[in-house]
Amino acid sequence: MPKITYKDLRQAFSKFWEERGHKEVPPIPLVPKDDPTTLFTGSGMQQLVPYLLGEPHPLGKRLYNIQRCFRSQDIEEIGDNRHTTFFEMMGNWSLGDYFKKEQLNWFFEFLVEVLGFNPEKLYVTVFKGYKDLPADEESIEIWKEIFKKYGIKAEVGERIFKYPAEKNWWSRAGVPENMPPGEPGGPDSEVFYLFEKVNHDPAFGPYCHPNCDCGRFLEIGNSVFMQYKKLEDGSFSLLPSKNVDFGGGLERILAALQDDPDVFKTEVYLPIIKRVEELVGREYKEEAVKRNLRIIADHIKAAVFLIKDGVLPSNKEQGYVLRRLLRRVAVKVYQLSSQVDSEILLKAAQEVVEIYKGVYFGDKDREKILPVISDEVKRFKSTLKRGMRVIEKIDEIDGKKAFDLYQSYGFPLEIVKEIFEEKGQKINEEEFRAEFEKHKAISRKGAEKKFKGGLADRSEQTIKYHTATHLIHQALFDVLGDGVRQEGSNITAERLRFDFYSPVKVEENHIREVERIVNEKIKEGLPVYFKIMPKEEAHKIGAKAFFKEKYPEKVKVYFIGDYSKEFCGGPHVKNTREVGKIHIFKLKRIGANLYRLYAK
Ligand code: SER
Repeated sequence: MPKITYKDLRQAFSKFWEERGHKEVPPIPLVPKDDPTTLFTGSGMQQLVPYLLGEPHPLGKRLYNIQRCFRSQDIEEIGDNRHTTFFEMMGNWSLGDYFKKEQLNWFFEFLVEVLGFNPEKLYVTVFKGYKDLPADEESIEIWKEIFKKYGIKAEVGERIFKYPAEKNWWSRAGVPENMPPGEPGGPDSEVFYLFEKVNHDPAFGPYCHPNCDCGRFLEIGNSVFMQYKKLEDGSFSLLPSKNVDFGGGLERILAALQDDPDVFKTEVYLPIIKRVEELVGREYKEEAVKRNLRIIADHIKAAVFLIKDGVLPSNKEQGYVLRRLLRRVAVKVYQLSSQVDSEILLKAAQEVVEIYKGVYFGDKDREKILPVISDEVKRFKSTLKRGMRVIEKIDEIDGKKAFDLYQSYGFPLEIVKEIFEEKGQKINEEEFRAEFEKHKAISRKGAEKKFKGGLADRSEQTIKYHTATHLIHQALFDVLGDGVRQEGSNITAERLRFDFYSPVKVEENHIREVERIVNEKIKEGLPVYFKIMPKEEAHKIGAKAFFKEKYPEKVKVYFIGDYSKEFCGGPHVKNTREVGKIHIFKLKRIGANLYRLYAK
């Protein structure tokens, strides 16, 4: 079988879905620009939430793309052979068009007929059921038929495995209990690849099975049957249509194609590993070194992509995550080579640019990305030194202090441990871990809270505030002139927040005037509706676009009477009267000519 390269795989995927009538939805940046409620783009479906909930998509009912993704939740767990913070997700969607039978057949066809996988090495999982949500017996029957075509008798418990909601239910919030009202979700069916050369490790349980964590099986694709919506009372209703939301990890498929479970040995990581091996003079062999090299390769790649998408190191939100990634790389380089050397990071970063040249990076990107990395390493060098001085002054280390060093100076536990071991002291690791878990729980919560589509939820009140946001946007233009520019919005059921740029200094009287106009428009009972039209035409009629967003050729434009027109995915109320009275209760200056207002 000829080797399938990274670029071949991308092309094959696109061609496969295009031949089946799918249109490409342009991928969004790692930091969703119009969506301040979300820190990072963590899956391909993120931009499709309104459409999965029933809004028509301008490009139709069959969609696909390859979306770059970043998941920060498990940064600390990177180091094994398959987890990464950055990855590419290959996705296809049916918005109320085809369903289980076509999806499962097509994905299997793609794996076996296009990519050449041996069907004997593929195993599948389905949803076992949960409370009132039924088991997915239909998918079991479909899988049996599919395997039969290849002469494989697929039995439940041998080839087809049933799992509870923790494994075979997908929503952005996880299991059904964790879903907020209005959130879509559904049972899913995953395909796993079996690495025969890997032996089962009984430390993970007596028997191996697809979801065993020993690493013998690798999940390579997940078909979610998005057909439910969580209701306010905790029960579920059916969505207006039955959708398919498929996502498959590109790097994992590459690893399975080369029958080696280590994604870091695929062509999208290996050049980085090799370059760092060379520079630090250590080989990718011994487990501890491998772990460090994987962390370096993962983090430097993620950092390069984040910088490319506009993130700069800082102490807040995305910038803080980038800072942590770069500092951890610097510390790992230091552990392997005993020096904090920005050259090593820069050379590793250049490998990333090379790997993705022509796909994500052009000639100019290097100049934009590399200085950000070298500046951050320089800055960290001095923090590192300051941290060392603090360490010298500490007489006795405990878990809390070790954690503070980790937090404030970016020193991982291993480093703090080594320093103090030289002084003849031992750290209570349990204490440190307890602090660490506490911190992780907090940041996870933060991430979950952030990880929402354009709106915090789909409750009635949130939708009303969404329409109010459009009215405020237009009223700001009326009052402050055409120089106004939207910078972002954040809408929950409690209030709406709107950030904007205004060349004119914004005063209290402006805000009262905006509020007056908005309430007048609400009272007028204007109809709210959308039209799908070519992007050009939408620009021509003066619909407000969000300058940070890249739009597809066909777009959806929401109209509020003839008062407001905006590029928007929805959802909205049908008539402005439903919004009720709006009060702008706070205005803040958040930067030069930048303002944030709150209303409810
Ligand atoms: N939304 C699912 C996932 O992220 C499938 O696309 O795995």
